Amino acid sequence: VLKLALIGFGFVAQGLAEILLHRSDELRANLGFSAQIVAVATRSRGSLYRPDGLVIDELFTAIHQGRLDQYPDVVGLERGWDTMRMIRESSADVVIEATPSNFQTGQPALDYCHAALDAGKHLVMANKGPLVVAYHDLVTHARQAGRQLRFEATVMAGTPTIHVGTSALAGCHISEARGILNGTTNYILTQMESGMSYAEALAQAQKLGYAEADPSADVDGWDAAAKALILAAALFNSQMTLADFSVKGISGITLDNVQSARTRGERWKLVARVTPAGGSVQPVCLPISDPLANVMRATNAVTYTTDHLGDVTLIGPGAGRSQTGFGLLADLLEIHRAG
Ligand SMILES: NC(=O)c1ccc[n+]([C@@H]2O[C@H](COP(=O)([O-])OP(=O)(O)OC[C@H]3O[C@@H](n4cnc5c(N)ncnc54)[C@H](OP(=O)(O)O)[C@@H]3O)[C@@H](O)[C@H]2O)c1
Repeated sequence: VLKLALIGFGFVAQGLAEILLHRSDELRANLGFSAQIVAVATRSRGSLYRPDGLVIDELFTAIHQGRLDQYPDVVGLERGWDTMRMIRESSADVVIEATPSNFQTGQPALDYCHAALDAGKHLVMANKGPLVVAYHDLVTHARQAGRQLRFEATVMAGTPTIHVGTSALAGCHISEARGILNGTTNYILTQMESGMSYAEALAQAQKLGYAEADPSADVDGWDAAAKALILAAALFNSQMTLADFSVKGISGITLDNVQSARTRGERWKLVARVTPAGGSVQPVCLPISDPLANVMRATNAVTYTTDHLGDVTLIGPGAGRSQTGFGLLADLLEIHRAG
């Protein structure tokens, strides 16, 4: 049984917990995989640790009431440990980092990541921040610690972008990855095609929960750049920082631009592109024959340009509760397979 510590119990970590709740019999029967949540830490909603495992139903009941303190008293339950103590002292085999992303410092998650590896725990990330700031340090640390560092969920949620790029295509030479890595901006561009203004489309994206209250990381291109940086590091061992990216968002795209592209059989997309030499995020007017041009609404996609196969395009969700939770599960299954 793989014992898990969930650092952060928001949208994404709850998505994983829900899959474990509903699929555990199937995962055990089909894949011999079983996992148990032993620790959950949040910033303001309390924390719980129980070496013999926490009951997922009860975790949901408690968090829906607003605080993990609502979890019933049971033998062996510890309450109120701080996040660092949870990482260092819990008996978890795997730490799942699902706290908010900070692209400037990666903190406090970056310290959590190093602490997890120091404590001999595998590390599975949904949070992009630490990887954007310190990808190579973390990879080196994980190697030295003899633990796995996995981050499928950070790029295109559970769509197996990292797995396909680094594992399924490992025998190919990949010269370039080009993708639509941000759902909010793609949703806005899609709505503009049907006549909505940029401001209206953005407001609708916010209403649907695609865009944050402060949408700047999405619309200015930095969220896509962060994912592209992680992808470039994983594919090409690239040493780029975010500052090395040329980044332009979609706020300059007018309704007129979108509509006139349409009459030419083209579509504006916010395209993130990485090669071994560099990376960019910018609006590009793509011919409709390009698979990326046909990726609509909040869907994401990436095209790998390879020597043996030519272009290989993966299209799928780039966000969402169970979609991102599934990305975490995929990493846990890899850890399980590696034994
Ligand atoms: N949402 C998506 O579709 C998606 C997709 C891919 C990747 N991601 C990434 O996944 C991560 C989590 O996203 P989310 O949507 O689940 O966010 P969220 O709903 O805001 O949840 C964040 C969780 O982290 C907790 N937290 C914050 N600081 C903490 C700390 N210092 N120690 C322990 N817990 C802490 C929060 O606790 P409180 O509730 O007490 O504040 C909350 O439980 C982010 O980095 C995000 O970029 C999200």
